[in-house]
Amino acid sequence: MKSRVHNSVGVLCCLIFFTSVSLGNSAPLLIRFSHVVAENTPKGIGAKMFKERVETRLNGRVAVEIYPASEKFTDEQAILALLFGDIELAAPSFPKFHKFSKSLEVFDLPFLFESQEEINNFQQSETGQTLLSSMENVGIKGLRYWNNGMRVISADKPIREPADLEGLLMRIESSCVFSEQYAELGAIPIQMPFGRLKDSLRDGVVAGYENAWSNIAAGQLQLLRPYFIETDHSYLGYMVVSSTSFWDSLPDDIRMELEAILDEVTREVNSLAEKSAQTDREEIMHNENVTIVTPTDEERLLWKKAMLPVWKKFEDEIGTDIIDAARVAKDQPTR
Ligand code: SIN
Repeated sequence: MKSRVHNSVGVLCCLIFFTSVSLGNSAPLLIRFSHVVAENTPKGIGAKMFKERVETRLNGRVAVEIYPASEKFTDEQAILALLFGDIELAAPSFPKFHKFSKSLEVFDLPFLFESQEEINNFQQSETGQTLLSSMENVGIKGLRYWNNGMRVISADKPIREPADLEGLLMRIESSCVFSEQYAELGAIPIQMPFGRLKDSLRDGVVAGYENAWSNIAAGQLQLLRPYFIETDHSYLGYMVVSSTSFWDSLPDDIRMELEAILDEVTREVNSLAEKSAQTDREEIMHNENVTIVTPTDEERLLWKKAMLPVWKKFEDEIGTDIIDAARVAKDQPTR
């Protein structure tokens, strides 16, 4: 009797095993997506949108885990984590890639792009699309461009002209271009991960910073530094990246579906980014303690004059061909 029960249990186990194998009932492929901003910013919303669509449309075959707000990695760590296989997707801002592609520093040059439209034109141009593969030699695959908005400067005192930044400690992203830019302005730049920005403002470690309106509003940074100047001197955007080895090892049908989802989500993130640049600015402006200075044309020229020497210092490492291509493409809509 006992051995008959054992036999039946054995047969049942085999049946379950073979059925699950033949139905392909294996663990879903996991995509871990790390980013450093709040979940209610365009990038944070985009990451969640990506997860929902992937899990619905690739039902059971792919799962997405998101690590938002530097929960696990800073952007600098995330790029290495991609290469070590600890995550599969990230979307750092351009300066964070400077060790891997000098050409991408073109996006950091002050006053090269004056509007979102100019950036879109360049990103969609032939050179813009080529830059997506500029890190493949080190195993990083650029997938899409996600936008945020133009950078404004904020400090603990009113800022109107470049001389007002003299001697101020300014938090910047890990960028050699930005270091030079603030040194040109007579400020003291400190490279710091985004996740430390709010604490460093609260604790008075830095006097000011630069960023896009959506990140400022999400972190309520206007409560810590109420003075802004809308220099719009550079553009805060992202490259969604994976490791070449992960992306190329995906089964074709899964990769095609992921690409289709990325296309849709990119369109939505970028349209959301344009809207938030306005709505978040308005929300911040409504705080009675906040002052937002919009420079006059003459004042803007002063900022340009003060920052433009940076171009000369970086044109060799970025490549004058890339800078020239950006200058031409930004005024030429591709579609
Ligand atoms: C981000 O928008 O991802 C953060 C940018 C920064 O480091 O300031």
